Amino acid sequence: MENNLPVNIREYQELAKKALPKMHFDYINGGAEDEHTLRENIAAYGRIVLRPRFLVDVSNIDMSTNLLGYDMPSPIMVAPTGAHKLANPEGEVATARAAASCNSVMVLSFSSSCKIEEVASSCNAIRFYQLYVFKNRDISETLIRRAESYGFKAIVLTVDTPVLGRREADIRNKMIVPWNENLEGLLSFDDLDTTDGSKLEKYSRETLDPSLSWKDVEWLKSISSLPILLKGIVTGEDARRAVEAGVAGVIVSNHGARQLDYAPATISALEEVVKAVAGAVPVLVDGGVRRGTDVLKALALGARAVMVGRPVLYGLAARGEAGARHVLEMLNWELEVAMALCGCRSIAGITRDRVQTEGDRIR
Ligand code: FNR
Repeated sequence: MENNLPVNIREYQELAKKALPKMHFDYINGGAEDEHTLRENIAAYGRIVLRPRFLVDVSNIDMSTNLLGYDMPSPIMVAPTGAHKLANPEGEVATARAAASCNSVMVLSFSSSCKIEEVASSCNAIRFYQLYVFKNRDISETLIRRAESYGFKAIVLTVDTPVLGRREADIRNKMIVPWNENLEGLLSFDDLDTTDGSKLEKYSRETLDPSLSWKDVEWLKSISSLPILLKGIVTGEDARRAVEAGVAGVIVSNHGARQLDYAPATISALEEVVKAVAGAVPVLVDGGVRRGTDVLKALALGARAVMVGRPVLYGLAARGEAGARHVLEMLNWELEVAMALCGCRSIAGITRDRVQTEGDRIR
């Protein structure tokens, strides 16, 4: 096996499928309802072509960049995804070590299957903390305090999940999420009937606050001094509102197509958001990034950085910490090659004219 490592994310996806029970693979791999947006997140990248420039000295490629004042060796980050113990018994601790070994910023999910404290003490790296707002605000506040005291550098507030999207594979499989140890003593998992749906769905319905609104961004600012990024923005209108609300960054995301089906592919929504934000704060994007060329396309369209969700979980499921690390290394390598072949020596050199979108072709 070690002599025969996968050479791309798709091969890791196949290995993950073989390694995991169907229920767990479906949970990681699947999307909402018709999975139209799930397919589009990837297909839309395929419709953007690159415009390479040659006869540029590319003997030194500098992929380093900066986010919220933190230097990063590359613009590829780890998206928050829940329940890593479904992929590997070491869970988020293994992912955090993998991310740290590549100096990639990891966003730890609120639905982490390992404790915040355990993840923080397992490696020394920049980490952000992703937040869901529960009906019981005390629970969210308690977890923010714990993340703050363990050195997490920013809060990523996920705004696209006032209720859980309909993930039909999970409903059919009666998917059971592992117990989130971070909620020990704060919430009980008992008494959730699973007869007509996934336990995940029942759990979300009882905990997530569907009244989540812009007022809660104010609430969050009032209880924490950490910078706040809003994750799940896909329109210029919400992006402008986010800037007005004083957030530190915007993440163009459709939750890996697990929430609203027929939401736009994130790479298609990116430019609208970038234009609306007009440089006031950094814009990140996630969803469907599977290649270094995808990263280059996102950066050319104005993203400061990209986050990857499923690819890291595929690596984790297939080969544990080493697999998650290899996925990040491969993506970084692919980005380096793509930059060289496009004649981009630095991240700043990845300009809008390096890509041609469908919109450009119509104009
Ligand atoms: C997610 N995502 C997610 N987002 C979030 O804000 N909190 C969470 O707990 C989770 N959990 C989660 C679990 C799994 C299994 C997946 C696949 C995704 C969404 C995630 O942060 C990100 O937006 C997408 O995964 C990006 O799309 P790709 O890279 O998976 O295509």
